Amino acid sequence: MASGVQPWWQRAVLYQVYVRSFADFDGDGVGDLNGITGRLDYLDWLGVDALWLSPLTPSPDKDWGYDVADYTDVQPVFGGMPALDELVAKAAERDIHVIIDLVPNHTSDRHPWFEEARAARDSPRRDWYVWAGPKPDGSAPNNWRSSFGGVPAWTLDERTGQYYLHNFLPEQPDLNWWNEDVRAAFDGILRFWLDRGIAGFRIDVAHGIVKDRQLRDNPDPTVSTYNANRDEVHEVFKRWRRIVDEYEPARVLLGETWVMELDRLARFYGSGEDELHLAFNFPFTFSALDAAAMRDIVEATEAALPERGWPVWMLSNHDIPRFPTRMAGGDERKVRAALLLLLTLQGTPVLYYGDELGMPQADVPPERERDMAGRDGARTPMPWNGGWDDPWLPLSADVAPVAAQTEDETSFLSLCRGLIAQRRANPDLQGGAYETLPAPDGVWAFRRGETTTVAVNLTDEEVEAQGERLAPWQGVIQRM
Ligand code: NOJ
Repeated sequence: MASGVQPWWQRAVLYQVYVRSFADFDGDGVGDLNGITGRLDYLDWLGVDALWLSPLTPSPDKDWGYDVADYTDVQPVFGGMPALDELVAKAAERDIHVIIDLVPNHTSDRHPWFEEARAARDSPRRDWYVWAGPKPDGSAPNNWRSSFGGVPAWTLDERTGQYYLHNFLPEQPDLNWWNEDVRAAFDGILRFWLDRGIAGFRIDVAHGIVKDRQLRDNPDPTVSTYNANRDEVHEVFKRWRRIVDEYEPARVLLGETWVMELDRLARFYGSGEDELHLAFNFPFTFSALDAAAMRDIVEATEAALPERGWPVWMLSNHDIPRFPTRMAGGDERKVRAALLLLLTLQGTPVLYYGDELGMPQADVPPERERDMAGRDGARTPMPWNGGWDDPWLPLSADVAPVAAQTEDETSFLSLCRGLIAQRRANPDLQGGAYETLPAPDGVWAFRRGETTTVAVNLTDEEVEAQGERLAPWQGVIQRM
């Protein structure tokens, strides 16, 4: 696809901001929106085009914002709605778009919808959630398990004598997406944010929001056959796409599509123009840093996606160990190789804050742990250079801070900034078609468009590829 007609979200480098840990403006130890606004110069200098902000909405924070108590407001600890409006306006001055996290699968148990629903069996809101009576022996209605801890995904509501479904914590009751009023409510929520200038949504648990209407047992209790992954989810996203398509400039729907089969992933793109714009590719994220393995996934993705579908690549996020530790075992050469691939493949790359610094997974001592699912090590504060007063999670020690890396031409930060600049200056790196090139074992070589080739040596030996001698783990971009 020629770059001239590419929408912004295809040309973009996205940057995930875990808001609590990015930058703390008011000094309370928790990152906030004014903190992000204060770092827009940095983000602009780095060259990113859009920010995805982790959930901002009011929440009891049992799951750090992914338990929403109000879909149309901003947590006071982040600075409230005025701080978001200011961030969006200031970011726009730098051509940076702001995407927010949307959590349609479940609410907080403190959301007024759930409080109303659980009040009585005949509550008008009852059917907004998934309720079922106990089995004759009093146990949960079926064998569905929660993603947190593998415990039953049902909690008995003593007062009304029925169980409610929660694919995550008991404090995160699942909404009933078979209910037309729930669908209508979310249409309104989407419009609320789009009208405020939000550039789109990262959709939490996108693969999972619709469940089996008959609540059938999963044939294998460890596989979410019926408590997620239902085909009717595509109707919901087609409906959302129609809403989003009404807006100018273009907005984007980015799904957390946690599926491991690429043909199923491809279905979230619909025809390529009528469902999600981007669907996260977890098989790529979880691949070994191995030429054949990654190349196979990329080729299979290119083959599976509809003609106008556009891939999205990510190495780290707030739920999984950071890639320099997980994929690269702390080896700097491997971290560089992975960053080079991320930023040169065909598709939209997403950097998780700190990826540009080569930030490894942090060791969070038990007494400082905050997350019930053990994910704190990927969520520690951005190491600007000091700048944090008693942060909510400890600063990770094992990474050179931004200030030092900015000065150092050989740093990860300089590498990332240089790669992003090359993308911007080279339409083929932004939009050119991907084609695998022949290469020795352990080397991944590909062409982008007419003019550009990339070769990365993912071995411990020196090799020759694309007419260059490549040191172990070295990559090269050539432009004709
Ligand atoms: C995926 C989010 O990324 C994760 O942080 C959260 O715990 C679950 N969805 C539940 O909302």
